[in-house]
Amino acid sequence: MPITVLDHPLAADLLTVLRDQDTEPPLFRETAERLGYLLVAEALADMPGDEVEIMTPLETTTGSRLHHPIVAVAVLRAGLGLLESVLTLVPDAAIGFAGVQRNEETAEPMEYYTKFPTLEGARVLILEPMLATGGSLSWAIDKVKENGATDVTAVCVVAAPEGVSRMESDHPDVRVVSAALDRQLNPSFYIAPGLGDMGDRLFGTV
Ligand code: URA
Repeated sequence: MPITVLDHPLAADLLTVLRDQDTEPPLFRETAERLGYLLVAEALADMPGDEVEIMTPLETTTGSRLHHPIVAVAVLRAGLGLLESVLTLVPDAAIGFAGVQRNEETAEPMEYYTKFPTLEGARVLILEPMLATGGSLSWAIDKVKENGATDVTAVCVVAAPEGVSRMESDHPDVRVVSAALDRQLNPSFYIAPGLGDMGDRLFGTV
């Protein structure tokens, strides 16, 4: 399973704002969206283009339009923090949702809601900002594969080595794009140094 960690000063700057405990939800949401642009651009970097002939104000030329369909599946609720980035860059992307809750004792995923558009033939971006144990991401990928997805990329903000290992064994065909690969999980299954609970930081819950 290939992992791509963004190597860009802009990504590092945005990630630092997200990691800072003093960043309040409005700036956190805005910064997550900005970082999302870089992550989504990287997740689509290997997409083929469809050659088209167009007319500029001066002459005809050959251009390239992004090959479709593209689907984004937000793993609730933290994945919502990257959804606007996808929709701004790819306004006609279809959107799905995967509702999963973490069992706080075992850290295993518990499903509560799924809704997917057609996944066959699409580049499917799974928006799962925190790749911690990998349980939720692996579960979400199982679900999209069961529903026809064959071309899946995971879009993360921070990944832990434990989650990366889990992906390597469960879904070696899935590419992971992340803004950081952190040190480890702590005993409560949070990523360290991490940025805390992404959903809480996005939405101001505790
Ligand atoms: N989910 C989060 O939001 N943060 C972590 O550190 C791990 C899982």
